[in-house]
Amino acid sequence: MAKEINSIGVLTSGGDAPGMNAAIRAVVRAGKYYNKKIYGIYEGYQGLIENQILELNARSVKNILERGGTVLKSSRSEEFKTVEGRRKAYQNLKALGIDALVVIGGNGTFTGAMHFSSEFDIPVMGLPGTIDNDLAGTDFTIGFDTACNVVIDCVDKIRDTAESHNRLFFVEVMGRDSGFIALRAGLASGALDVILPEEQAPMEDLFHELEKGASNNKMNRIIIVSEGNKLGDTYEIANAVRERYPHWESKITILGHLQRGGSPTCTDRVLASRLGVASVESLLQGMSGQAIGIVNDVLKFTDFKEAIASKSEIDMELNRILKILST
Ligand code: F6P
Repeated sequence: MAKEINSIGVLTSGGDAPGMNAAIRAVVRAGKYYNKKIYGIYEGYQGLIENQILELNARSVKNILERGGTVLKSSRSEEFKTVEGRRKAYQNLKALGIDALVVIGGNGTFTGAMHFSSEFDIPVMGLPGTIDNDLAGTDFTIGFDTACNVVIDCVDKIRDTAESHNRLFFVEVMGRDSGFIALRAGLASGALDVILPEEQAPMEDLFHELEKGASNNKMNRIIIVSEGNKLGDTYEIANAVRERYPHWESKITILGHLQRGGSPTCTDRVLASRLGVASVESLLQGMSGQAIGIVNDVLKFTDFKEAIASKSEIDMELNRILKILST
């Protein structure tokens, strides 16, 4: 029979994502609802190793639902990748009597959690928190919707000036090696084309889309470039276009970390709240070693191993629709 859980630690790790605070709040409030002790672990796994741990109560997480970033701060810990680092972390948890852990983050976070929960007798559940949306076992990750909304807000503004000057814009968006943000935000912002890591399309395809736009009298042409694409970096792509079409004036905007900030959208707040409560309830039911997601609006539990081995498939149908609509 699973050991009774009286005390739960929560941490955020890896790149921050809007909605992480809503998830922290949900873990803390759900834990207190079930009369458990809750500890906030600061600065991710590194803070766990360095014992940066404080007890939290329901009021500790007031007024954070609407805030971007993570009040627990985050880090990418090299030390936690070693067994020695993980042993120190375990000893710190034991010393405080913490029986279980909720980790909120992306691929690297789940990899750490997988090792930790298999090496030590600490149940761990994971919540998908990354703007990249690149984890298996969930339709959406916490922060993705907000990041897409930030991108479309920026592209709407860029369009104003693009239209005024008849310029071509290359807008680079994040996503490390996945094109979820580029595709969704590209469709939602009326981009002429998107350049995705999931595609091997040659430069000629981009030239074709640009010429199509020009022949249709499209004066503001916006190309969304996903940072991990295979054609080259955004400057190389823009230069190739400039060489081919020297009479077109073009500009480059790299949105960068802007995409990771801001108040989470309703969608991200609801997602984070549902997943946060599920993490506490699943731990109390004796579960461990799983990432929690929502697929077709239903909670889904996926072994960490599976969650990190693959990522959810990008929906290329959206790309087909984008191309129909960008004519
Ligand atoms: O994984 C989230 C993410 O924002 C990626 O989209 C991006 O490539 C990376 O993190 C940037 O990481 P850092 O903030 O460490 O520069």
